[in-house]
Formats: sequence, structure tokens, C-alpha cells
Amino acid sequence: MNAKLLKGMNDHLKLEFKASHEYRAMSAWLATHDLTGFATWMTQQSSDELLHAQKFIDHLVERDQKVELPAIAQPPSEWESAEALCRHVLENEQAVTASIEELYVMAEAAKDRPAIVLLQWFVNEQMEEEAAVRAILGRIRLGGTTGVGLLMIDQELATNSMPGMPSAAGTGGAA
Ligand code: FEO
Repeated sequence: MNAKLLKGMNDHLKLEFKASHEYRAMSAWLATHDLTGFATWMTQQSSDELLHAQKFIDHLVERDQKVELPAIAQPPSEWESAEALCRHVLENEQAVTASIEELYVMAEAAKDRPAIVLLQWFVNEQMEEEAAVRAILGRIRLGGTTGVGLLMIDQELATNSMPGMPSAAGTGGAA
């Protein structure tokens, strides 16, 4: 396997584990602020991120490549609001998308077809994940950042009935 691509995949693991760690912390914060629908959604996102990391690890192991797990920093434990928290999730996802796109370019340059197939799955997954967070942020802007509007959005997340939410959101890691 191309050395640059191998390093890139190992480096990328940090973003997936960091996202998982942060989303788990976010879920705890949301639950303690009585937003249980948001909290359940964030727990699912955290689990999906671990599955994403595992997909890269499995790919490297299948190809007899060295896996180097990263150190993960302590995540924040406080957020200003559910909206601020979701904006941070979107920024996280955009950073992951940028990293996936860089890996894709490396895989194409190396003519590494197995890596291209793997990364194509992630390209689609990132599009869905960003769309899901944008849907939530859009509902918050319409419904309000506090009170009944926010509770309505929480209920939509609890019942998986939010309009505009990609159908695969929350299940992306399972594919
Ligand atoms: Fe695995 Fe949400 O990026």
C-alpha cells in the first residue's frame, strides 16, 4: 500500500475516534438538560463513528498494513446551547469530509482500487451525515432554540420522524 495513503488512513482514525468521544460527551450533556431525543441521536452518532474507525482498521488489517491508534483528547463537557452543540457537530463532520476527500485523492493518485471503493462509501456517508445535522439546525432555526419549539424537535429526533433527515442517518456505521 502507498505509504502516504497508509499514513493518511492512520491519521484519519483520530478524527473518527475524536468525533465518537465528543458525541458521547454531547449526549450526556443533552440528557442532563432533558433533551432525551437529541441525546439518543447523539449516542447513535457516537456509536456510528466507532464503526467508521473500525471500517478503516479492518481495511488496513485485511491488507496486512500497520494500524496505529491515536491518543484522544478529553472532550468538552459544557455547551452554550443545543444549537451551539449542533453547529459544532456540523464543523466536526465538515472536517471529516475534508479528510475523506484528501484520502480519496491520494487513493486515486496511487490507483488503489480497494481504497477507492472504501472511500466512496465514506463520501456517501459524509454527505448523509452533514445533511442530517443541517436538517436539525434548520429545524432549530424554525422552531426556536429553547422552549416548546426545541421540545418539538427533540420529540422528532426521539421518534425518528424529522422531515429532511436522510433515511440512512443514524445507521451509517452498519453498512
Ligand atoms: Fe465518521 Fe461522522 O464521520
